[in-house]
Amino acid sequence: LNYCVPRTRKEIFETLVKGLQRLEYRGYDSAGIAVDGDKNTTTDGINNNNIVLIKKKGKVKALDEELYKKDCMDLEVELDTHFGMAHTRWATHGEPSALNSHPHRSDKNNEFVVIHNGIITNYKELKKYLNSKGYEFESKTDTEVIPKLIKYVYDNREREDLSFSTLVERVIQQLVRSPLLIGVRSKYELSAEHIPIQYNTGELSMFKEGVQEKNSHNRPDISNAVNSVEDGKAVEYYFASDASAIIEHTNKVIYLEDDDIAAVVGGKLSLHRLNRLAGEVPVRAIQTLQMELQEIMKGNFEAFMQKEIFEQPESVFNTMRGRICFDTNKVILGGLEDHLKEIKRCRRLIMIGCGTSFHAAVATRQVLEELTELPVMVELASDFLDRNTPVFRDDVCFYISQSGETADTLMALRYCKDRGALTVGVTNTVGSSISRDTDCGVHINAGPEIGVASTKAYTSQFVALIMFGLMMSEDRISLQTRRLEIINGLRILPELIKKVLTLDKNIKSIADELYEQRSLLVMGRGFNYATCLEGALKIKEIPYMHSEGILAGELKHGPLALIDKHMPVIMIIMRDACYTKCQNALQQVTARSGRPIILCCQDDPEVSKNAYKTIELPQTVDCLQGILSVIPLQLLSFHLAVLRGYDVDCPRNLAKSVTVE
Ligand code: G6P
Repeated sequence: LNYCVPRTRKEIFETLVKGLQRLEYRGYDSAGIAVDGDKNTTTDGINNNNIVLIKKKGKVKALDEELYKKDCMDLEVELDTHFGMAHTRWATHGEPSALNSHPHRSDKNNEFVVIHNGIITNYKELKKYLNSKGYEFESKTDTEVIPKLIKYVYDNREREDLSFSTLVERVIQQLVRSPLLIGVRSKYELSAEHIPIQYNTGELSMFKEGVQEKNSHNRPDISNAVNSVEDGKAVEYYFASDASAIIEHTNKVIYLEDDDIAAVVGGKLSLHRLNRLAGEVPVRAIQTLQMELQEIMKGNFEAFMQKEIFEQPESVFNTMRGRICFDTNKVILGGLEDHLKEIKRCRRLIMIGCGTSFHAAVATRQVLEELTELPVMVELASDFLDRNTPVFRDDVCFYISQSGETADTLMALRYCKDRGALTVGVTNTVGSSISRDTDCGVHINAGPEIGVASTKAYTSQFVALIMFGLMMSEDRISLQTRRLEIINGLRILPELIKKVLTLDKNIKSIADELYEQRSLLVMGRGFNYATCLEGALKIKEIPYMHSEGILAGELKHGPLALIDKHMPVIMIIMRDACYTKCQNALQQVTARSGRPIILCCQDDPEVSKNAYKTIELPQTVDCLQGILSVIPLQLLSFHLAVLRGYDVDCPRNLAKSVTVE
């Protein structure tokens, strides 16, 4: 933050804390802030001079309480100009603790303080070097090498007029880093380049990572820096790794691109490029955010996850809005139109993602093969890279990602770009790295997803990918009947989702029975196999219950050994091409005294009579059924977690966007 208008310290604390709370879904094991202290005030020994650091283990709430314990900080004092920074951490190097949390500092005088997202791969070497030069470290993090290195470069500067951006730039060049976004605050009055100094209270700079080593996959950035602009004239600047942190203050943002360095010096914002060519001045458009504040509030729901499950009739509708003409059966995804010819000519489609986003690829693979008549590979981004998968110029690679920032997926994107493939983004986040770095793409328009467990993004990704298949098959005469069936299915999908959501009470009562179990198997095949994988993931993520998604066709090749009357099993048996095969699996389960809970179509006595319990779903087109069958499992995961006493929106050890490898 840079306030060029007076603010009380209390207001500054509140703004920073609220921003952190909005980002808490990204990580929440500790948090910290750096703000301007009162001149000549010594606080609690961590600080003196201008910058005060306050850090706390635990959630942002714990930090918030800590802020008001600092009696020596006058909350009502008005500051004309002010810098503050805040960070919520998800540990990669060093356990969660106040000491390991950010901001990190250069020395006991807090001359430079730094917040950072990403990993510094060569931190051990740098630490060793800096130790040998007498710089002492206090944390176990990789991040701490940044402020220490800044101080080292500053202490050893050859010229007195070293500018702030140049200082930061020199340090970044020494870091071997995976995706990186750093914020640096200095208490020195360093100069800016090309910018007249008006306010001299310190500097703040943000750097966004881009291409790093020549021979590695180009490293992606991890986040966006955002600042506020009003009527072309900035009065306050906000930088954030996600626009939701600042939406209360402004809807005008600039997204930093890879290798951008933004500096606020003397109350003015400037943009530079790392390794800038002489005279290169980056031009960045001011964009208007469409996000509404209420979209990122919980409303009457107990948790964001629950709210997002119940939003699915609208979110799925929003994915289709304006893109399907039900009169002409035309499907137009504007972001793909210009590349459609090229896509149609390709050799194969490769769908890449992680976690839930990968499951959306699994869920739609079969119908995409049918509608595009192309081979479709589905790939977990990490495994795809581990295998150095051959990729060719005539491949079309899809990157499916709610956040658009997942490091593994971004690395796979850079990998395929380097090999000349056409790249297509399928993301929920406008302005995200994936949506900007791909050649073309589709925004799924599900609205902000805050719950760590992805729910509405999955169903919207599912719909978006099917719409892509429909767009590809528009001129295939042999596929028109099938297209029509799917389009009609999509038309009534929001209504059917509403019907599934009315089963909530029924599902809660199943959760009452299951919540003390240690394990839960989810079994199905064909169009519903992805639901098994996704349902099992939800059950692992939020209630921390061991769960496995099993392909029913593989039952007899191993998993059958697990079945007895004690093992809870959910089976998905829908009236589709796999119906008879699923019934065979059901027989095998009941013959071993298994007591399956069956997700089936309404009025299916044949299946119901063998079930311990049933959850009856409306029937839809086979390839859309997975959208309906996943919802009971999302609800089950939510209820199991509540019954087991866990925090649904903050599952242990997990983060919403995983921006490190
Ligand atoms: C993390 C989240 C998952 C998510 C996955 C992919 O692991 O905890 O819920 O499915 O990342 O995220 P993306 O934003 O790329 O869809």
